[in-house]
Amino acid sequence: MSAPPTSPDSDAIARAGDALRAGDLVILPTETVYGLAGDATNAAAVARIFAAKDRPRINPLIIHVADADAAFALIAETPGLRALADAFWPGPLTLIGDRRPEARIADLAAAGLATLAVRVPAHPVARAVITAAGRPLAAPSANRSGRITATDAAAAAEELGHAAMTLDGGASALGLESTVVDARGAPALLRPGALTRAAIAAVCGPLSRPAPAGAPASPGQLLRHYAPRRPLRLDAGAPEGEDEGLLSFGPVDPAGYARCVALSPTGDLAQAAAGLFAGLRALDAPPVRRIAVSPIPDRGLGEAINDRLRRAAAAVER
Ligand code: TXA
Ligand code: MG
Repeated sequence: MSAPPTSPDSDAIARAGDALRAGDLVILPTETVYGLAGDATNAAAVARIFAAKDRPRINPLIIHVADADAAFALIAETPGLRALADAFWPGPLTLIGDRRPEARIADLAAAGLATLAVRVPAHPVARAVITAAGRPLAAPSANRSGRITATDAAAAAEELGHAAMTLDGGASALGLESTVVDARGAPALLRPGALTRAAIAAVCGPLSRPAPAGAPASPGQLLRHYAPRRPLRLDAGAPEGEDEGLLSFGPVDPAGYARCVALSPTGDLAQAAAGLFAGLRALDAPPVRRIAVSPIPDRGLGEAINDRLRRAAAAVER
C-alpha cells in the first residue's frame, strides 16, 4: 500500500473550491491544526459547520482569507492591527476587529457579535483552497465540540469525515490553534496559541492576560475543550495506578505507567506543542483508563500548552 498523499493535487483543490461554493464543507490542513471550512458568506453552509461540530451557537468562528487586504475588507483597520498583520501574516495569529458594515459574512459565523475574528493561514493547501473557493472561509478546528483537536487528516476525518470531504496535507506543523488577539485598543490576549505572547509583545507591547474564565471576551474559551474521554491528571510525578498512561515531557522515567507517549524527551516546547493533541488521542484508548501529564513549564509555547491541558482536565461540561 502506498503512503497517504500529503499534498492534494490540483484536481482535489479545484473540487474543494467547487464544493465550498456549492455550500458544502471541506476539512483542510492549516499550519496550526486541521479546520472544518465552509463559505462564510453562506448562512446555510455556516449552519452546517455548527451542526457537524455540535457547536454552541454562542461561539463565533474564525474567518480565513488570503491576505491582509482581504482581512481589512472585513474588519476596520487600526495601526495596531496593521502592525500585527504585517509582522505575522500569513501565520498562526487571529486578529479581532470591528466588523465592517459592508462585510458580507453570515451573522451566525460571528455569533451576533459586532466584531469578527480573521486569520491568514500559511499552509499552502489552505491558501490554495481559499483561492479556489474565491470566498472567505469560516473554519473552526476540525473536531466535534469539546473534543481533542485534530492535527492530522485521519484524526479530522474520524471526528467529522461524515460531514465533509477531507484534504490531507500531512501532520500540522505547529499543532496548537492560532493565538487570538484583540488589538483594536490596548492589545489583549484572548486565547494563547501557536504564536507566543513574547513574539507578539515585541511588535505591539505587553498583552493583557487572557480574560479569566467566565468573562465573555472570547466566548469559546468558556467551554470545556480539547478533552479526551479519559480523566486527565496534570503535573504528574509517580504513577497512581497501573491503568494510567503518561504524556511525558523532558527526561522522564515512564516505569509503572501502562503506556507512555513522550512529547519531547529533550524538553523542547515546540516539539511538545506539535505532538500534544496526537499524544492525547493515542493515550485515550485501552489499556489506558486515566491519563497523567508531566509538568510543563509555562514559558513560551508552554503557556498555550498548559491552557489546553487545563481546559481538557476541567470537569465542567458545557
Ligand atoms: O488555528 C486556528 O485558529 C484554527 C485553524 C483551523 O485556523 N481554528 C480554530 O477555530 O481554532 P476555533 O473555532 O476552534 O476557535 C476559534 C476561537 C474561539 O475561542 C472563539 O470563541 C474565538 O476564536 N473567536 C471567534 N470570533 C471571535 C470574536 N469575534 N471575538 C472573540 N473571540 C472570537
Ligand atoms: Mg476549537
